[in-house]
Amino acid sequence: MIRIYKAKDYEAMSHMAADFIASQIILKPNCVLGLATGTTPIGTYNWLRKKYEDGRLDFSEVHTVNLDEYVGLAGDDPNSYRYFMNTYLFDHVNIDKFSTHVEDGTAKSLKKECQRYEKLIRSLGGVDLQLLGIGNNGHIGFCEPADAFSRVTHIENLTESTIQANSRLFEDISQVPTRALTMGVGTIMRARRILLIASGSAKQDAIRDSFFGDITPRVPASALQLHQDVTVIADEEALAKCDMGDDDVIVV
Ligand code: GLP
Repeated sequence: MIRIYKAKDYEAMSHMAADFIASQIILKPNCVLGLATGTTPIGTYNWLRKKYEDGRLDFSEVHTVNLDEYVGLAGDDPNSYRYFMNTYLFDHVNIDKFSTHVEDGTAKSLKKECQRYEKLIRSLGGVDLQLLGIGNNGHIGFCEPADAFSRVTHIENLTESTIQANSRLFEDISQVPTRALTMGVGTIMRARRILLIASGSAKQDAIRDSFFGDITPRVPASALQLHQDVTVIADEEALAKCDMGDDDVIVV
């Protein structure tokens, strides 16, 4: 089942998403959170930091597993997703860094690293709540449109459109890695609950195709239609091509 919430704008989306994640931590202080990177979750992480600073949230027992990491970038590279997570969340809350996990994009054997990561998620007891953004082409994590849904953490070749979209965060497009390690669609689907956030007009087609179109590996996020507990929080712009009538929340 998918519940879609319409938020007025990016700020309202971020606030609502932070409340959602905070409620998970309050409900189960030692929960396993699946976390995402990208521009979209930055506001959410800011609100979570604020809740921690206000003494309303305790991360001391929380475990985290991130969706993906660029191949070839070490954790101290400012463009790596490990660096992103430290910068926007982990360095500012009372989480134990040893309980935070991101794939190692510099591992000698990338294949073994993928297997290790998948086992790690299992050993933690699985993901309680997985946060997702969405790519303009409907990708989740770095699972790109394909002929079949990926099952487990794997090495992914990034599409031209993803490299193009993500190049804005690099000095030059030639510096954007062409490969990444990412949880598979199957890994994501094994999370008990999923929260997907989206903002802005660039996400309109991806949101419409994912939740109102056919279930197809050509739109990786469309697999979420088969999950039993998905919440989408998106702003008005991102939802502009979805018919929600006058409702601020619908179930599809
Ligand atoms: C990257 C990440 C995704 C993210 C997507 C959208 O490709 N691997 O997890 O959802 O970008 O990013 P943004 O939120 O910046 O639009």
